[in-house]
Amino acid sequence: MSDIVLGIDLGTSNSVVSVMLEGEPIVIPDEAGNRIHPSIVYFFEDGSTVIGNDARPFLMKDPAHTVYSAKRLIGRPFDSPDLRVLIGSFPFKIVSSGDGAPRLNIYGALHPPEGISARVLLHLKELAENYLGMSVSKAVITVPANFDEGQRRATKRAGELAGLEVLRLINEPTAAALAYGHGQNRREKVAIYDFGGGTFDITVLEIRQNVFQVLSTAGNSYLGGDDFDNRLVQSMLTAFEKQYGYDLSGEEVIIQRLKNVAQNIKHRLSEQDLVTARVSEMVPGTLTELELEFSLSRDAFNKRCGDIVEQSLTTCEEALQIAGMQRAEIDHLVLVGGTTRVPLVAQRVREFFNREPVAGINPDEVVSVGAAIFGASMIETEEAPEPMAPAMPVSHMDHMSDDEWIEELDEFEEDTGIHRSSPPPLRQAPPEIPSSNDWGATGQWEHRPQTPPVTPGQIHGGNAHGGDAFQRQPAYQPAPQAPAPARSPLLIDVTPHALGIATVGGVMDIIIERNGSLPLARARHFSTSRDDQTRVVLPIYSGNSRRIEENSQLGVLELVNIPPGPREDVQIEVQFEVDTNGMLNVRATDLRTGMNQMARLSILGDSNADYYDTSDLLM
Ligand SMILES: Nc1ncnc2c1ncn2[C@@H]1O[C@H](COP(=O)(O)OP(=O)(O)OP(=O)(O)O)[C@@H](O)[C@H]1O
Ligand SMILES: [Mg+2]
Repeated sequence: MSDIVLGIDLGTSNSVVSVMLEGEPIVIPDEAGNRIHPSIVYFFEDGSTVIGNDARPFLMKDPAHTVYSAKRLIGRPFDSPDLRVLIGSFPFKIVSSGDGAPRLNIYGALHPPEGISARVLLHLKELAENYLGMSVSKAVITVPANFDEGQRRATKRAGELAGLEVLRLINEPTAAALAYGHGQNRREKVAIYDFGGGTFDITVLEIRQNVFQVLSTAGNSYLGGDDFDNRLVQSMLTAFEKQYGYDLSGEEVIIQRLKNVAQNIKHRLSEQDLVTARVSEMVPGTLTELELEFSLSRDAFNKRCGDIVEQSLTTCEEALQIAGMQRAEIDHLVLVGGTTRVPLVAQRVREFFNREPVAGINPDEVVSVGAAIFGASMIETEEAPEPMAPAMPVSHMDHMSDDEWIEELDEFEEDTGIHRSSPPPLRQAPPEIPSSNDWGATGQWEHRPQTPPVTPGQIHGGNAHGGDAFQRQPAYQPAPQAPAPARSPLLIDVTPHALGIATVGGVMDIIIERNGSLPLARARHFSTSRDDQTRVVLPIYSGNSRRIEENSQLGVLELVNIPPGPREDVQIEVQFEVDTNGMLNVRATDLRTGMNQMARLSILGDSNADYYDTSDLLM
């Protein structure tokens, strides 16, 4: 097995895989030379599949068995309102499973979305292996900056199902920044504007040589190139109805074909001012053929889709506001994602930031290349490649001497105004932090007896669901952990959403703030509301509103087997830790005894895909 690490951009529409060979990034092509691989899986009736570019034609031939955009479903509960809307728009069947996660019903076999992503990842792994002539098992996979806990867990699981050791998940914009700035000795602020097929993200970063510090990130998971295509499909349906009086909007196969035409028109309009396409469709159940000549100028396209572009700019405003910056403070603008090839998009972003985007960046490949650069740096500095869990320590500062490291931190504090909470420890072994990701199938985890020092805080909180009273305490910041040998880039991402629990009146008590630098830990004290209560249930929410109903429930934290006692005596400290992968770990301590308290974090819609049969996949 080689030490090569795949850098994988697992996209909604397209995926890209790269590796570093002799210090140079190589984007891996398929046999036909394509460097971009559609995230599409086609299932034959016997369960066999074709994936990537070979699967694309089946979108139109057999939409019910051609799965695309699994990334829009991954790690999300079936019942979430957003998902409900989405589900109706897919031509394949999506059902709810016993665990509350969506399943794709393909010829009666139920696939979790991560099973689909696993197939895409396996395809990329195989392309890389064929290209390199050796087997490869390590990967760094990118995710949208605003992916939540459930989505990150499921993505990691998809990697594992594909037989990959996921060294780390990194955020797509951070990967793009890395590809742009690594080894360039830059000191500047950049905006990464990423408009893909299904999502839009904007991230503002500060690059200080080897440090990539996210200042803010904002995004819209329901804004992408697909929206432009859908607008054009609507126009075509209206034209058909006007000309022939037939409403074709309920015809799945026709819609898929029109989407393909629409996308083609959109792509051609990126090069030409006027595009004409001829479409002919049979009226279902008849022998009547409808012909339509559809012409569209770039101006008309811009008018039809201008508001989609403006929505992305509103999100840019939001990101600047969170970072506390003016547009003029952005030194460089990097465009990522296929939708930035739409001339109107490039023009409006240029106008918004009042500057030209950085030239020479391939918007389709830059994320994957950044992931490959990071993966290679992890291996070069190997003794301790950052494992997915426990991943609390800032361990990519690992490979410096103590003096260098302290100097780096001092400089970092001075430049960013972010302060470490305690002096850096010198070369101590990182504490063993058990992680919620280590949980077995039941999600149970018994905390081990390593409790950081605690300053009891005393503000009385409100009532959580189930009448469990709790107390707050000041934030606990983990001390930066001790490091290993050479220098790899330091990526400092932020929490995209606040995390909190429900209190009286539907207000969210924010435990982890939005835009906090990772890794991040906060502690809270909880007590029971009744004598001899042995279980406390706390619903965990994620979102940026103070009102619970405007946020989404991430899951439930249960403190179980609490030793009975008078309620005022019970004091449990819960530590919420978001690691460098952006994943949440929780641990609890009974402050009376200093012993671990059993805590169980269940993420809504977690699909238990561990039970998903991948034997066909890994053969
Ligand atoms: N030349 C072009 N002109 C206009 N749009 C284009 C062009 N090339 C690609 N696109 C659009 O870019 C989108 C795909 O972008 P990309 O591959 O970056 O998305 P993705 O990474 O799969 O999605 P996401 O980042 O949302 O997960 C599609 O909507 C596609 O139609
Ligand atoms: Mg993308």
